[in-house]
Amino acid sequence: MTIPKTTSELFTKTFQSVKVPALGFGTFQLKGDICRQAVTEALEIGYRHVDTARMYQNETEVGRGILESSVDRSDIFITSKIGREHLDAEGVLREAQNSLAELQTDYLDLLLIHWPNPAFPLSTTLETMRKLKEKGMVRHLGVSNFPSALLKEAVELAPIFCNQVEYHPLLGQEALLAVAGEHDLMFTAYSPLAQGEVVKHPVLEAIGANHGKSGNQVGLRWLLEQPQVVAIPRSSKPEHIRQNFEVFDFALSEDDKEKIAKLPKEFRQINPGFAPKWD
Ligand SMILES: NC(=O)c1ccc[n+]([C@@H]2O[C@H](COP(=O)([O-])OP(=O)(O)OC[C@H]3O[C@@H](n4cnc5c(N)ncnc54)[C@H](OP(=O)(O)O)[C@@H]3O)[C@@H](O)[C@H]2O)c1
Repeated sequence: MTIPKTTSELFTKTFQSVKVPALGFGTFQLKGDICRQAVTEALEIGYRHVDTARMYQNETEVGRGILESSVDRSDIFITSKIGREHLDAEGVLREAQNSLAELQTDYLDLLLIHWPNPAFPLSTTLETMRKLKEKGMVRHLGVSNFPSALLKEAVELAPIFCNQVEYHPLLGQEALLAVAGEHDLMFTAYSPLAQGEVVKHPVLEAIGANHGKSGNQVGLRWLLEQPQVVAIPRSSKPEHIRQNFEVFDFALSEDDKEKIAKLPKEFRQINPGFAPKWD
């Protein structure tokens, strides 16, 4: 990707000639009216990228939240994900159709395999997803929770645009970042606040104090300052949704980045029994 030169350029990033709003809104565990209102609120604040999944069982509310906002569908980058039990050809088609119906949209900007599942041949899943792209139901294809060997396999099989994995100042992802750089993939950092741990981290708070910012703003800024990375923080609260968005008006110093680099990097929040062997 083109390395952004100024702070405001971080607002969107370009991968494979596709422009994407770099700070998205996550919706895991948001349900009902809270979800609908949070999505509307995020869009009114300025977010232009929304992340959901079949598994979150909230696409109806996410879709309503988008419709109730003042933002045009064409200005929003919407990602959804197919669950790991539905990766056969029929499942992929059915789940993608369900996503479109519930989100009340004609296309997804990005469709991901939510988790790898060795019970389904990757080539079949990706070939079916490619057909969805040809039909215009999906603009870009990607994967999530793919370790580097499997990601490299996927890149050989289909036009992969993105890998979405856990990433924040307390977890290292060097191997996956290298693959993303090599193939100009969007590297989406999920749980970018380590589900709240980043918010109260003393080192991040101390760095933030020098900039008039909070620890979570420092953590998000650190992610966005890395060329391949986009981040999708989630919040149910308007003041947090706004605070997480206010990361475009400052920059980290080399000294700040060195301090963050020195933090222990093994704090993984999302690790279900079916997770692959991580890098
Ligand atoms: N592909 C995958 O397998 C996968 C897995 C996990 C997540 N994701 C995606 O990534 C998104 C983000 O990850 P996440 O939801 O796991 O966690 P996260 O964004 O790292 O953290 C969310 C938590 O931080 C709190 N928070 C947010 N902003 C805050 C602020 N400014 N001050 C204080 N607390 C704040 C939220 O509470 P409040 O609601 O109280 O603000 C919530 O408890 C998800 O929503 C989902 O879209 C994908």
